[in-house]
Amino acid sequence: MFPAPHPTSRTGTGRAWPSSRSRRVRRARVRLANHQCRSSAISRGRDGWYGVSVMASPDLPQGWRKPRRLLEAHFTPSPFQRKMGGKARGAAFDIVPRSSIMPARPSSAASIGKERDVIGGETYTVYPGVVLGKDVRIGPYAVLGLPGEGQEGELPQTVIGDGARIGAHAVIEAGARIGKGFRCGHGTVIGGDVVIGDGCTVGAGCHLDHVRLAEGVEVQDLVVLGILPLDKYDYHQVGADWEPVVEVGAGSVIRSHTSIYAKVRIGPRFNCGHGVRIRECTTIGEGTTVGTNSQVDGFVTIGKGVLIHTNVHICQFAILEDESYVTAGSVLTNTPHPRCPLAKPCMKGPVIRRGAKVAANVVVGPYVEIGEDALVGAGAAAMKDVPAGQVAVGVPAKPIKSVYELTCPFGWIEHPYTPREGRSEG
Ligand SMILES: CC(C)(COP(=O)(O)OP(=O)(O)OC[C@H]1O[C@@H](n2cnc3c(N)ncnc32)[C@H](O)[C@@H]1OP(=O)(O)O)[C@@H](O)C(=O)NCCC(=O)NCCS
Repeated sequence: MFPAPHPTSRTGTGRAWPSSRSRRVRRARVRLANHQCRSSAISRGRDGWYGVSVMASPDLPQGWRKPRRLLEAHFTPSPFQRKMGGKARGAAFDIVPRSSIMPARPSSAASIGKERDVIGGETYTVYPGVVLGKDVRIGPYAVLGLPGEGQEGELPQTVIGDGARIGAHAVIEAGARIGKGFRCGHGTVIGGDVVIGDGCTVGAGCHLDHVRLAEGVEVQDLVVLGILPLDKYDYHQVGADWEPVVEVGAGSVIRSHTSIYAKVRIGPRFNCGHGVRIRECTTIGEGTTVGTNSQVDGFVTIGKGVLIHTNVHICQFAILEDESYVTAGSVLTNTPHPRCPLAKPCMKGPVIRRGAKVAANVVVGPYVEIGEDALVGAGAAAMKDVPAGQVAVGVPAKPIKSVYELTCPFGWIEHPYTPREGRSEG
């Protein structure tokens, strides 16, 4: 989608077009948002200035003034391009609203820190209203402060903190606020309502919208944060009044290929595996881990220091209290009779109480409560409550003993579990 015309867009550099003196040196590709221009050429005048002539493609976005035939502009060559003389490469322009050609350089309205370093040569674009900190490096074809869809009039301020490194082809939309030392990978898109704290890293090919990252968050490649669900917002009215943003606490790590929906609140030091999916209206406490390929299916409450292993399915409305543990391949379920006409209103996930452990490949039924510090053995089907501190095994799972009676088969420790302070042996 294309932004609406912006009244403060600039047109070229204001220098005279040196057509009489110029010679055509090479044809160049000129980017027009996603549209390629039909033809273009770079020319070089005797004074060392380059020009570009562009025949715009016929499918200019609506609201953009169509040029009659040629658009003309010129720009100052980078030292490299100057050195290369007529063989200037990669000279590119983004065509901005009002059919002006904005040389891909900061506009006069952008506030530039003193130590700005331009990696992208002439090819990046900074829209009006962008405040760049010191020592910001911008990669080729990156676009900073891009107006969002339908954004008209004065653009909201976009802030890029000191020392930021913006990768090639990255897009940061108008209004984003980004802290110091930001590292942004190639091709990442950051929406206008995103707020990123100091010292964060976002990998390549990510899309962040409706996101608040606290300090020092690492987001790896190909992560999507802030997806808006198509429906379901009114499920049991849970989260109906939540702000549709993803909040990620300080020092968290979100590994590659993960998707997190909006209306998710995550505490500090969250540790997220690869390919995790976390749906809307979910809270996750401090220091919790969600392992690779696991799915947290929305409207879920997860406490502090919880461990969710790989390939785990946490159903909607499940509750996992502090320090509980759900291990590999386990499935928590929430509907007693799937596809019953009243399945949705009767949906209720299990409650895994504080310190309880669900071993590998366990199914935990709807409405089931796994008591504090209890342990459900591998492969069990826990369709009824398990009392606190009990070991339950089998299909269906039945309590067989206290967890405090378990002994280490290797003799390394007398008892793997001991009652926590203030709790009698169950
Ligand atoms: C539940 C568990 C802790 C029981 O350990 P244990 O008490 O040392 O086991 P025991 O050998 O004393 O078993 C006691 C009885 O329960 C049975 N039993 C043990 N685990 C069982 C299980 N998972 N399913 C069915 N029966 C089981 C044993 O066959 C034995 O029955 P018996 O007395 O008729 O012979 C263990 O089997 C277990 O599931 N550990 C978790 C493994 C796991 O998934 N770890 C995840 C890490 S990623």
